[in-house]
Amino acid sequence: MNAIELEQQYVVHAYNRPPIVLVDGQGVWLEDAEGNRYLDLVAGIAVNALGYGDPEIASTICEAGKKPLHYSNLYHNEPMARLAQKLVEITPFADRVHFQNSGTESTEAAIKFARKFARTHFGEGKTDIVAFTGAFHGRTMGALSMTPREKYQKPYQPLMPGVRFARFNDIDSVREVIDDGVCAIIIEPVQGEGGIHPADVGFMAALRELAWEHNALLIFDEVQCGVGRTGTFWAHEPLGVLPDILCSAKPLANGLPIGAVLVIERVAEVIHPGDHGTTFAGGPFVTSVANVVVNRISDPAFLQHVQETGAYFKARLEALNNPHIVEVRGRGLMLGVQLDMPAAPVVQAGYEHGLLLLNAGADVLRLVPPLIISKDEVDIAVERLAAVLG
Ligand SMILES: Cc1ncc(COP(=O)(O)O)c(C=O)c1O
Repeated sequence: MNAIELEQQYVVHAYNRPPIVLVDGQGVWLEDAEGNRYLDLVAGIAVNALGYGDPEIASTICEAGKKPLHYSNLYHNEPMARLAQKLVEITPFADRVHFQNSGTESTEAAIKFARKFARTHFGEGKTDIVAFTGAFHGRTMGALSMTPREKYQKPYQPLMPGVRFARFNDIDSVREVIDDGVCAIIIEPVQGEGGIHPADVGFMAALRELAWEHNALLIFDEVQCGVGRTGTFWAHEPLGVLPDILCSAKPLANGLPIGAVLVIERVAEVIHPGDHGTTFAGGPFVTSVANVVVNRISDPAFLQHVQETGAYFKARLEALNNPHIVEVRGRGLMLGVQLDMPAAPVVQAGYEHGLLLLNAGADVLRLVPPLIISKDEVDIAVERLAAVLG
């Protein structure tokens, strides 16, 4: 049996996959078992920021792989400590970091920290969370409760109680639901799964004020939009609004599982040994790789490349004047192409044109290539996309 047949027989059918088995990759290109090459505009869902076959990632993995991969959180380890230092140094609001293994774990940790903070400072009864329409915060029970999609939530009810939903970019709708029973507001500065929707500056500033007014923590979920994706290290930087907690994950170790929650000192102070933890997080192997990713992506020249290539990509898509393209949204290399038709057949047709595409909702194409993509490769992507839409 080949890989597809084996999967069909032995793997739980939780994913719909095209009949392609990927076996290799270089730069922004992936190759399947039949030797077909695909220009990758998905990057493992906004993960593989430095692309495939990066020599520094490969040599770091080889070196770290010769040492113990795991010590557990019972003991100190150097790569984790250095990564925490680096993340705090490049993140003006943050004082400390707590590590996880995924995006959903980082939003879970954020909820737990917010509840502990509220309980410590304000007593019982301040446990609710404000989240937004179109949000995606993950699939574990707490994160799922803040992800208002019936298809994802309904089979698993009852969910975590106490989540109040407001409309994204609509501050009046937040005023309607917030009161002193709220311990945190959680928001993606650029919504990813919801269709690539950037938050407005004025809305975010007002959200910050409302959070202060009600002694609620402001949590930015930058699992998808953070770490260089939008052309600044964190997506919230151009907004000029700072959170109390920030969740990161996806690209942080270029494909190895990792999550990180960055917090202000006042939040860190309420977390004591034993309050929250996990076996694998912050291990030396993964954090060795994450150190390379953070060093490379935080370089201003790298971020400049993302800004320029992203702006070029957006302009070229707009210049197509394709009748199916209603709008191109987003910043840097996190672009959403609003179509006047379902995205699924477009993603499907992409395979025949050597293009890996991803949707975000029913009618939006989400373009999140490796951040190292060049303008020449953008040209190829745009030509192929035009052919697909044609
Ligand atoms: C904004 C955001 N938060 C959280 C998650 C969950 O991350 P993970 O799939 O690593 O659990 C995602 C995943 O797409 C995401 O986009």
